[in-house]
Amino acid sequence: MFCTVKQPLISVRVCERKTAVLESCSIVPPLSLSLPRPRSLVSVQKPLHLSCGGLGLGLGGVRRDFVARGAYEAERSEVEGARPPSDAAKKVKIGIYFVTWWALNVVFNIYNKKVLNAFPFPWLTSTLSLACGSFIMLFSWATRLVEPPNTHPQFWKNLFPVSVYHTIGHVAATVSMAKVAVSFTHIIKSAEPAFSVLVSRIFLRETFPFQVYLSLLPIIGGCALSAVTELNFNMIGFMGAMISNLAFVFRNIFSKKGMKGKDISGMNYYACLSMMSLLILTPFAIAVEGPQVWAAGWQTALSQIGPQFIWWVVAQSIFYHLYNQVSYMSLDEISPLTFSIGNTMKRISVIVSSIIIFHTPVQPVNALGAAIAILGTFVYSQDLENL
Ligand code: 3PG
Repeated sequence: MFCTVKQPLISVRVCERKTAVLESCSIVPPLSLSLPRPRSLVSVQKPLHLSCGGLGLGLGGVRRDFVARGAYEAERSEVEGARPPSDAAKKVKIGIYFVTWWALNVVFNIYNKKVLNAFPFPWLTSTLSLACGSFIMLFSWATRLVEPPNTHPQFWKNLFPVSVYHTIGHVAATVSMAKVAVSFTHIIKSAEPAFSVLVSRIFLRETFPFQVYLSLLPIIGGCALSAVTELNFNMIGFMGAMISNLAFVFRNIFSKKGMKGKDISGMNYYACLSMMSLLILTPFAIAVEGPQVWAAGWQTALSQIGPQFIWWVVAQSIFYHLYNQVSYMSLDEISPLTFSIGNTMKRISVIVSSIIIFHTPVQPVNALGAAIAILGTFVYSQDLENL
């Protein structure tokens, strides 16, 4: 289990000493990006879409300092005393990361839904996912598998709003998945770029070129078509996915402030985020659901499924942490744009596999809506790339 955590440690140790954050971009834990401090920065004027862990934030019309990949790679090999990997080796590595990320996410989504079908208490399962991640990271710090971060009160103060939105986004997505098909939640979550642009426009007063707004039409239209033709539509499930989209966009915005100038790796930042979110979520989970209904529900699930139900819960919690971990590792190697395309493809993997595994009934017009929405996300990414 800890091999996965251990693998990026070589670069993490470097990062703990020499951390630079893409502070002008909204990179969000668990996918906050921490890179060795670059020797040179290039300024890019392009609008940039960052979709981190299923999160997107469109940024446009503002100056951003962006780490030059060449400088990053040069510094990394200099520190580690190794030659930079060839293009082919890098592509293979990124390919392995992507496949692992999607596979872990598919497994998480399947076990998460299996658990929620038998034990419909999303507030508890969300809490357990965060608890598992927190435990893994505390263990890693205690055993020095991961160098613990040096934090101060202001860091935790800045982390608080990020944690609030992280908690809301996580629990809302899980509530959604408890009420509707996994595929439907992910179709609605593919509308994240639209939320990013709208929030940036309304709250940050950022402007975007007309074609960016235009490219949102298929995303919104496709999701709407899919929603109105969804056979098992449920308003709570729909709203959960929508709230998750909104909360994750705000999480991006606040994480920008939280990460700014902090000497902490993305992995440790996410660990702290998990821990703070766990503290925030626990009292709400107890208030909304509570130990009595959990105990009764647990007994029912055990009697229906058998002891393997416990392993489903363990699996969904561990895979939640692992997929976030690997997505962070992917982001460390690629541009945010490539990452956002990878994240959309992740949703396709989840949608297709969950439809097959759970025998989700899909009408042709419903599938058409999903396809338009997903295609819209690609068009959106391309629009930003070409600006
Ligand atoms: C969660 O529980 O936080 C969601 O499942 C996140 O999904 P995403 O990483 O695909 O956005």
